[in-house]
Amino acid sequence: MGRVFQERLTRFSELPKVPAFILVLLLLVGSWTASYYTGGTKHAYPHLFYVPILLGAYFFRVPGAWLTAAAAGILAGPLMPLDVDAGIAQPLGLWLFRMGFFLLIGLLTAVLFSQLDRRLAEVNELMEALAQHHVRTLMVLAQLHELRDTSTQGHSQRVAINALRIGQRLGLKGEDLHNLYWAGLLHDLGKILVPDGILLKEGPLTESEFLEIQKHPAFGAETLEGISDGFQAVAEGIRSHHERWDGHGYPKGVKGKDIPLAGRIIAVADVFEALTNDRAYRVALPVELALAYIQREVGLQFDPEVVQAFLELHRAGQISISLHPGDIFQSLGEIGRHFPGRR
Ligand SMILES: [Fe+2]
Repeated sequence: MGRVFQERLTRFSELPKVPAFILVLLLLVGSWTASYYTGGTKHAYPHLFYVPILLGAYFFRVPGAWLTAAAAGILAGPLMPLDVDAGIAQPLGLWLFRMGFFLLIGLLTAVLFSQLDRRLAEVNELMEALAQHHVRTLMVLAQLHELRDTSTQGHSQRVAINALRIGQRLGLKGEDLHNLYWAGLLHDLGKILVPDGILLKEGPLTESEFLEIQKHPAFGAETLEGISDGFQAVAEGIRSHHERWDGHGYPKGVKGKDIPLAGRIIAVADVFEALTNDRAYRVALPVELALAYIQREVGLQFDPEVVQAFLELHRAGQISISLHPGDIFQSLGEIGRHFPGRR
C-alpha cells in the first residue's frame, strides 16, 4: 500500500515541466476565484493559495516557490478586496505581511524538498554500491564452486545461459530473468559442502552417499539466504532444481506447477548440459540422444512447456552446448551485472 502510494507520488513529481506549470497556474487562478467570489480576504478562502505555493516548491524548488508565492501574494493582495460586497480594499501592511509569509512558507518547503533530493541521491548511490558488492559476492561463490570440481568446469555457466534463454522464450522479464540466471549459475553451489570422497567418486554412489548428495539444493539455497534477503528468489530456484514434474524429485517432492518456474527451467538445462558433456563416470552423449532423453521425460521429470521452449530454442540454434571452460563469466554480458532481488 505504502509502496504504491510512494510510486504514484514519484510519478507525480516527475510530471513534465509544462503540465506542472499549467497545474500551478490553474490552482492560483482557482484560489483567487474562490476567494473573490466568497467575499474577499475577510474569509478563510485565501488559505487556498498555500496549495499552488507548495506545488510550485515541489515541482520547481526555490525559483518556483518564490515565483508562485509572489504571484499568490499579489493575487491575494492588491488584486483582492478585504470585503468585496462592501468594496473595502485591504490595508497595504496586511497584504504585504501575507505575501512575506507566503514567500517564507514557499522557501522552507523548497529547501526541505531539496534536502530530500540530496538524501535520495545518497541512498541511490549506496544501493548501487550494495548491488555491486552482491554481484561480486555471487561471482566469487560461483567461481569457488567451479574450482571445487574441475571435471564439471563451465557446467554452471552453460546451465545459466541456457536457462536464461528458456526463461526469455517463456516470457520472463527483468528481475525474474536476472534471478533465473543467477540461480542457474549457482544451482550446484551446495555441493561445496558435500565431502570430496562422495562428490569426486568415480564409481556408483551408495544409498547413503546419494542421500548426502541430495542435500546440495537446500545447502546452496540456505547459503544464499544467509547472505542477503535479496537472494530469496535465487535461492528458490536453487532449492527446486532437482524437483521432478511428477513429484518424485528432491528435496521436497513437490510436483507440477508447485515447483518454482526457475527450478523447472534449470532442471532441463542442467540435465541437457550434464548429458552432453564428459563426466568422471561416463563420456558425453551425442546431442540427439540427450534430446531424446529430454523428450522421453516430458511430464515425468520435466515440465512440458519448458521442454517445448527448450526444443524450439535448440532447433533455432540458440542452446549453448559447449563454451570454453575459461570463460566462466562470459555470459554475464548477456544478462548485465544485476543484483538479484533489486527493483
Ligand atoms: Fe544439482
